[in-house]
Parts: sequence; structure tokens; C-alpha cells
Amino acid sequence: MEEMKNKVVLITGASTGIGEGLAYAFARKGGSLSLCGRNVENLKKVEEKCVSEGAAKTIQVVADVTKVDDMERMVDETVAKLGQVDVLINNAGYGCKGGIENGTLEEFDEVFSVNLKAPYYLMQRCLPHLKKTKGCVINLSSCYANMFVPEAVHYSMTKVGLDHLTKCAAIELGKYGIRVNNVNPGLVVTEMV
Ligand SMILES: NC(=O)c1ccc[n+]([C@@H]2O[C@H](COP(=O)([O-])OP(=O)(O)OC[C@H]3O[C@@H](n4cnc5c(N)ncnc54)[C@H](OP(=O)(O)O)[C@@H]3O)[C@@H](O)[C@H]2O)c1
Repeated sequence: MEEMKNKVVLITGASTGIGEGLAYAFARKGGSLSLCGRNVENLKKVEEKCVSEGAAKTIQVVADVTKVDDMERMVDETVAKLGQVDVLINNAGYGCKGGIENGTLEEFDEVFSVNLKAPYYLMQRCLPHLKKTKGCVINLSSCYANMFVPEAVHYSMTKVGLDHLTKCAAIELGKYGIRVNNVNPGLVVTEMV
């Protein structure tokens, strides 16, 4: 029950789906949670349930991970209000269809920004705090990183990149006692699918 007592978990995309489920799982273990997303109503509902499930402390940060200022505020508010970061979960994700013939550069930029640039920058921004706690990072990749899906070429490229980022970061940051891992789920029934 108290496995996460005195630990602060920052979850992006905590407003629905897998991120919401992760929030409840950490709440049940007594963690303090920084719940991040864009949808204010959903975040409010998730926060209320986290409190009833046993979270020590909770905050909501309404933020868009495609915006650098928002990502900085996400980390700064977490540290200001909860004191530290022990676990960063890069879960926010955007799924889009499209291949070579029918994909667009707009979708390319959007999906790379949410699924790959944001995890990179949030890891960098959290680094001073993770050094202090000898914390960890969990990146939500996908089984699509290991599959060749012509109709989702942008999305799967972001997840291949995320797997590579995870491995590079694990090697680079291991010297600080920081662990970096990814998970590659198969199909989970959420808004995305
Ligand atoms: N579902 C699956 O089958 C599956 C399989 C493998 C991997 N995954 C991965 O698991 C992660 C979660 O996916 P899910 O299935 O739970 O999807 P989901 O229910 O659609 O949730 C996506 C989350 O990401 C947030 N998000 C999206 N764009 C954002 C942005 N620009 N700024 C801030 N937050 C943003 C959304 O929050 P707001 O709407 O509040 O902004 C939402 O909370 C993703 O990285 C996805 O690629 C999912």
C-alpha cells in the first residue's frame, strides 16, 4: 500500500487511457502525483479518483507537450508544489494514420512533437531533479516500434525513435543512478484506438 510513499510521480497524458490507469495504480501505492494533460475536466475527474484511491498528494498541470513553456511549467510546478521528481512517465501520445503516399507533413510534425520531442525535453528538464532522487523514467513506446505498419508510418517511426532514446538515455544517465526504461504495449482499448 505504501510502496510509493514519499515518491513523486509526474505522468503526462494522465487525463485518459493508459496514463489514467497508471495514475490510479500509483495512487493505490500511496504516491504523490503530478497529473498532466490538456483536458481540464478529465484531469479533475482523475485527480478526484486518485485522492479516493489513496494518493498522498495530487496536483493537476494543464499543459500541452508540444509547447516548450508548458513543459517547463509542468516540471517547475511539480517541484514547487510536491518538492521533487522521483518518476517521470512520458505517456502522452498521439496516434495518426498515414503512409508515404497519403501522409502529411503536418501530421509528421505533430506526432514527432508529442511522441518523441516531448519525452526528450521532459527528461532533460527533469534531469537535475532525477539526479537528486536517483529516480527513473518510463517511456510509453508501442509494439508498433517492432512492426512494419504501412498505414501508420509516422506513428511507428516515433516509437522506434523513442526506443532508441530510452537506450541512449539509460546508458548516459546510469552514472547518476537514474534508470530509464520503456514499455511496448500491444493493443489497449482507449480513446486512441
Ligand atoms: N492504446 C494502445 O493500444 C497503445 C498501444 C501501445 C502504446 N500506446 C501508447 O500509450 C500511450 C497512451 O496512449 P492511450 O492509448 O492511453 O491514448 P489516449 O487514451 O488517447 O491518451 C492519450 C493521452 O495523451 C495526452 N496528450 C495527447 N496529446 C497531448 C499534448 N499535445 N499535450 C499534452 N497531452 C497530450 C492526452 O491528454 P489530453 O487529451 O488531456 O491532452 C491523453 O491523456 C501513448 O504514448 C500511446 O502511443 C497505446
